Amino acid sequence: MDETKYGHFIKKLKYNKLPGEGKPEYITWPKGTDLEGLNLNFVWGYHHKVGPWEIGGEYGHVHPYGEVFVFTGLDYDNPNTLGAEMELSLGEDDETHIIASPSIVVLPAGAAHCPIVAKKVAKPYGFLAISCSAEDKTSELKKRGHVIPLVNKYGDLIKRMEMRDMKRKKGGNADFMTFWTGKNTPGFKLNFTWAFHKGTGIWHEYDPHVHPNDEALVFVGLDPDNPDYLGAEMEIRFGEEQEVHVFDTPTVVIAPKGVVHCPLITRKVEKPYGFTAICLAHEHDTTWLGGDKPFTSK
Ligand SMILES: [Fe+2]
Ligand SMILES: [Fe+2]
Repeated sequence: MDETKYGHFIKKLKYNKLPGEGKPEYITWPKGTDLEGLNLNFVWGYHHKVGPWEIGGEYGHVHPYGEVFVFTGLDYDNPNTLGAEMELSLGEDDETHIIASPSIVVLPAGAAHCPIVAKKVAKPYGFLAISCSAEDKTSELKKRGHVIPLVNKYGDLIKRMEMRDMKRKKGGNADFMTFWTGKNTPGFKLNFTWAFHKGTGIWHEYDPHVHPNDEALVFVGLDPDNPDYLGAEMEIRFGEEQEVHVFDTPTVVIAPKGVVHCPLITRKVEKPYGFTAICLAHEHDTTWLGGDKPFTSK
């Protein structure tokens, strides 16, 4: 039995092999019930095969909620390289778009999307899909009228993702990071970061902190053949009592709204790892409780 007060907020990610022949590809797909009831489900997976993906339906699918895709490389030394060329179908007309660099794709509720076909793969890559719903509600589509876009109706849904060099001098926070907010997109009560880390030490200067919204902190490894390997040892503290928790495998940490959390400390790093902070709000609204007195930042 878990005898700690906050231990249930720290959950090891469980990976499954995707169907298909050859060297396996792995994904994890926690739903709201796995995430303390948060209005969230997300997919994180590693891909290396050429050809149509085994997930997403032969003719694509649609959801009654918004979803955001992140196509990312897994190479810390080349954060702005995807290493693959993907074809993604969007919209009722089955418009096909090519994705050849790290990208964010914003899919409003009801927008048809997929299939995804890997045309070329030079290096394994990662895929994150964040959905604004606790439950998976997916309707698979029948064949749609395929067009090679002359009129580009859906291309604006795809944005090149820049992993910004944070020029971090010390501590465990991000080295390369991107940020997306749903502030200007109806149906997305969401903002998130995606980052690569390899530093040790404390992440933030004025911890602990608290948010007026739910948050999920997701720590993943960058080795596509060893999904259960994080490459780092993390410490996170919870509550005003600062209960200490340590983990060294891929993990999601839930910080429900109003629950005091952090400091977050990277104790050891063997290999760079990936991290996404998924916040169920438009702003990353934080009240810092450390230092001399609390202050709020966005
Ligand atoms: Fe989807
Ligand atoms: Fe937080």
